[in-house]
Amino acid sequence: MTGDSVVTAGNGGADRATSPAAGIAELGAEAARARTSYGEGALIACDRLVRIYAGDGIEVQALQGLDLLVAEGELTAVVGASGSGKSTLMNILAGLDAPTAGAVRVAGHDLAAMSARERLGYRRGTVGFIWQQTSRNLLPYLTAWQNVMMPMRFSDVARRQRAKRASDLLAVLGIAHCADRTPEQLSGGEQQRTAIATALANRPMLLLADEPTGELDSATAREVFGALQTANTELGVTVLVVTHDPAVSGQVRRTIAIRDGRTSSETLRHAEADEHGNATQHAIEYAVLDRAGRIQLPRDMIEPLGMHDRVRLEATEDHIGVWPDAPGRGSRASPPSAADEQDS
Ligand SMILES: Nc1ncnc2c1ncn2[C@@H]1O[C@H](COP(=O)(O)OP(=O)(O)O)[C@@H](O)[C@H]1O
Ligand SMILES: [Mg+2]
Repeated sequence: MTGDSVVTAGNGGADRATSPAAGIAELGAEAARARTSYGEGALIACDRLVRIYAGDGIEVQALQGLDLLVAEGELTAVVGASGSGKSTLMNILAGLDAPTAGAVRVAGHDLAAMSARERLGYRRGTVGFIWQQTSRNLLPYLTAWQNVMMPMRFSDVARRQRAKRASDLLAVLGIAHCADRTPEQLSGGEQQRTAIATALANRPMLLLADEPTGELDSATAREVFGALQTANTELGVTVLVVTHDPAVSGQVRRTIAIRDGRTSSETLRHAEADEHGNATQHAIEYAVLDRAGRIQLPRDMIEPLGMHDRVRLEATEDHIGVWPDAPGRGSRASPPSAADEQDS
């Protein structure tokens, strides 16, 4: 590799790094790439996703231009108030529902443009889905092992291998002892772990779980969440989990908050070890900047400052300040005036 892909005019490439024309050309090319390749390489890419439910003359805009990128291998939590559009998003990603407008790609599948046949193949092979209602995930008259076998009945894998896969999954998720029991002989947590094993049967790239612990007590919820973590770390499946449980969202690296049908903020966590080797958790909250340059400021930040309608912006070298428009409230936080600038 000689770096020949960087083409500059006239100077034989001698000082291509300092040539202003080359710099501008590069920036232009980069901007063009950014325009055409939104979400390239991401496992999930939602681009201004809209879902409108219309009926009885009432229109509900469940998703209002939602943008979301999730990389392969991530375990991500989705949080948000009831009615914010979380299930609508999950159903679209699961191939159970189609968006009204916008683009959505999962593992290279264009979900807005799939035929019925492609949709079926997608639902069987690319995604696994877990409902909140434990009873909805499993067939009541089959044992746990038979439930895990079910999704594989159309696969071209030999039966012996399918049988081994089902047993292995139950073992990895810590429920090998439940193999011969029907759902009614299982606890709520065991049922959800069996549901996870069933959803993983066809080796999906993506596991979607919509409030999988919503009906469980907190100890059982931890156990089920542990199974999702196992799927992510040991089987390499990308996991997206909707949850109300702070104990769950506190344990994932990335939490995405949805408000009014849009991604509004996200929190990234990482553990850092101090000099004694004790791990401390750091969490940083980010606002989502959409491609039109819009951000949504969290209510708990704008309300104490009395911000509404419009705010003043002040760009500095390394950050942008946001100030209340009205003098008085929050005036101590007003941006430096021109006079202050001259003083310093
Ligand atoms: N099938 C439907 N028909 C009409 N409105 C719906 C339907 N499903 C959801 N909605 C509405 O869309 C909005 C988002 O719902 P949903 O995605 O279920 O939110 P969440 O899962 O975050 O609680 C709500 O206002 C809800 O009432
Ligand atoms: Mg929901």
